[in-house]
Amino acid sequence: MENQTDIPADTGVNPVPDAPQPLAGRHILVGISGGIAAYKTPMLVRRLREAGAEIQVVMTANAHHFVTAIALQAVSGQPVRDTLWDAHAEAAMGHIELARWADLLLIAPATADTLSRLATGRADDLLATLRLACRAPVLLAPAMNQAMWDHPATRRNLQTLQLDGCEVLGPDSGPQACGEFGPGRMVEPDALCAAVIARLGRGLDAERPRAPASGPLAGRHVVVTAGPTREAIDPVRYISNHSSGKQGYAVAAAAVEAGARVTLISGPVNLAPPAGVEVVAVTSAMEMHEATQAQLADCDIFIGVAAVADYRPGVAAAQKIKKTPATGGAMTLSLVENPDIIAAVAQHPRRPFVVGFAAETHEALAHAREKRLRKGMDMIVVNDVSQPGIGFNTDENAVTLIWAEGEQRLSQGSKAAIARTIVAQVAHHFVDRLASANPESVAK
Ligand code: PMT
Repeated sequence: MENQTDIPADTGVNPVPDAPQPLAGRHILVGISGGIAAYKTPMLVRRLREAGAEIQVVMTANAHHFVTAIALQAVSGQPVRDTLWDAHAEAAMGHIELARWADLLLIAPATADTLSRLATGRADDLLATLRLACRAPVLLAPAMNQAMWDHPATRRNLQTLQLDGCEVLGPDSGPQACGEFGPGRMVEPDALCAAVIARLGRGLDAERPRAPASGPLAGRHVVVTAGPTREAIDPVRYISNHSSGKQGYAVAAAAVEAGARVTLISGPVNLAPPAGVEVVAVTSAMEMHEATQAQLADCDIFIGVAAVADYRPGVAAAQKIKKTPATGGAMTLSLVENPDIIAAVAQHPRRPFVVGFAAETHEALAHAREKRLRKGMDMIVVNDVSQPGIGFNTDENAVTLIWAEGEQRLSQGSKAAIARTIVAQVAHHFVDRLASANPESVAK
């Protein structure tokens, strides 16, 4: 397909003078494959340019059925690339140079066919070739019919791509262009842009020092709870659970990458604190509750990842309880209820944006939806901890994000990758909330 070179760039890009540009100087390849969600990509490109990025769009042959190269050239300010065999374009910047130029490759939408070709390592068009040649992070935003998304072949391809180091953003769940309802909608351009900002903020630190407080959460105070709590029975015994703190620590690290000031209220774990995080160490649920309340004066976002014990012994014995033959081998512990830390945050007069987690073993989505409403959360992240390899004390997780108007399933990946997507979504909803409550407050 012939490239257009005489189309003026969209003059509407970057309409806000002096707006923060967290992607200034970043080079992003935006790969577009052939799905209906491709019609949203001019807005995605525009958002990335508003954030300061330089964009090169690469289209597959099928993408041309859903969005025009002319529109994408106008918003990106660059002729679109779509073939390996364009001598003129290759002479200007060959595909290997293009791969080296990129700080990040974002493929949105990534169709089932594209995932399949990428998973098998094909190099049968420009986009697939760039993905192999590119050493920069690769983000995939899948979009397809919900049955295609659920098919074991798609699942396999996705798992392969994640093992190869690709990060998967979404898909969202909801009504689909085909008339069906379910997971398969491409994550919206604003959320994709926030994910790119969060990812590049971390990935390029070593090469390109950035101002410390850039990113979608710059200037915000995020409070995260992590790990288990321990409820003393006596000086040597306690009630607790299997939480390692890994997911909560990853969320704290992702919030730092997104530019936030982060306070991590941590139960007892064996993890090094993430760089740039202030850690408040606690042991019991009561201590975690008090430490949380102490942060609420200037907290913008609260994320409760901790596995808090719901009950504690009514009285912790001052001395080690001795085994007494008189009880006939049985022992009864009397428990009292702990405060619900997150529900108290949601009821606080200076209520932050509230995000909770739910560890469920059955009917996970139904229980999580009910829990979000009962505890007054803005968003809940549910993991089905009956599944092997995810949840408590693992390196990976698979979760569903649930908020008032939608849900997003994140397939299995590292807790760090899951945390980045959660934080990007939280940032997106938080900013939206602020903007609708008070448009001027967004520029805090
Ligand atoms: O730490 P890892 O090994 O990495 O494991 C991660 C995890 C499985 C612990 C994490 O992903 C997770 O699911 N955390 C929440 C576990 C949990 O206790 O869920 P819950 O359904 O009991 O609680 C729901 C929410 O209420 C949570 O946000 C919890 O922090 C909060 N809560 C619960 C009880 C209580 N008394 N106060 C609370 O604030």
